[in-house]
Amino acid sequence: MNTLTDAAIFLETKGYLDVAVDPDLDLVAEIERLKKEKNAIILAHYYQDADIQDIADYIGDSLGLSQEAAATDADIIVFAGVHFMAETAKILSPSKKVLLPDLKAGCSLADSCPAPVFRKFKEKYPDHVVVSYVNCTAEMKTLTDICCTSTNAVQVIESIPEDQPIIFAPDINLGRYLEKKTGRKMVLWDGSCMVHEIFSAEKITKLMSKHPEAELIAHPECEEIILQHASFVASTTGLLKYTQRSATQTFIVATESGIIHQMQKASPDKTFIPAPPNNTCACNECPHMRRNTLEKLYLCMKYEQPEIRLPDHIVRDARASIDRMLEISAKAGL
Ligand code: 13P
Ligand code: SF4
Repeated sequence: MNTLTDAAIFLETKGYLDVAVDPDLDLVAEIERLKKEKNAIILAHYYQDADIQDIADYIGDSLGLSQEAAATDADIIVFAGVHFMAETAKILSPSKKVLLPDLKAGCSLADSCPAPVFRKFKEKYPDHVVVSYVNCTAEMKTLTDICCTSTNAVQVIESIPEDQPIIFAPDINLGRYLEKKTGRKMVLWDGSCMVHEIFSAEKITKLMSKHPEAELIAHPECEEIILQHASFVASTTGLLKYTQRSATQTFIVATESGIIHQMQKASPDKTFIPAPPNNTCACNECPHMRRNTLEKLYLCMKYEQPEIRLPDHIVRDARASIDRMLEISAKAGL
């Protein structure tokens, strides 16, 4: 496939531009050139491949990426992450062009909570406030009072008066963790992340006995049984910072393994072991995040496609829940 017209026809079905790229092209140099030429910024999540992280202008967790998307003065935001993250960037900066290298970079957690089904569910609890983890669709955000990320979820729940009942969606594992941390009982939507649910408690405990010097650190999207064994639970940024300040030399990391690239860069002398999943494959990579490649990143910057487009009413109605989250974060110094 060599012409952009042909490639664009396939964009809808494939989710990315399928244009032949010269194998001798220096992709890193070309991406750097396109960044300058188009006044574009690359925002990357920690779960991206290392080569994408290394070329990004900003690498962070969901909260940091939203804050950066809201603040940037670039004309184009290239989002190296998944669809709901790029949508959030578009909601926060609607006048900017937001590109996602592969439109099919979705999220099992966001998929586990379809907005029309949630709308009916919400009708059963008319007096409840809806708090949604930012890992949900833009349409879900229009049904949400306050969004949260794993960094600010405790502060978001604590900002709500104690006698106010809450629905928490879509992640049941994060919801249960928050119930424990805040002492608040909530109505929980039964959704989950395929990557964080796959860890094997049995294999992890075996690994911990093999490495008694190691600390298990975990993301709150993991199941309760994994969190019970962890000595530290936090968002990706929280985990990264913890590995830098802790005196421990070896960590077993129960989250997507992409974060280990930054952990290893920040602490080259420490050892990071990815927590083993509950299957025969040794990997715990998010298949959605990993749909983005350096080649797709280059093509999307060159042709300015695929682009995130959202109807005006979705942008307008979803925005309030994200703004509220950012206000609470700013107040808490996050
Ligand atoms: P954070 O970026 O908030 O750590 O969440 C991790 C995640 O699963 C993003 O998809
Ligand atoms: Fe979604 Fe889980 Fe992948 Fe994050 S790691 S994008 S929550 S499927």
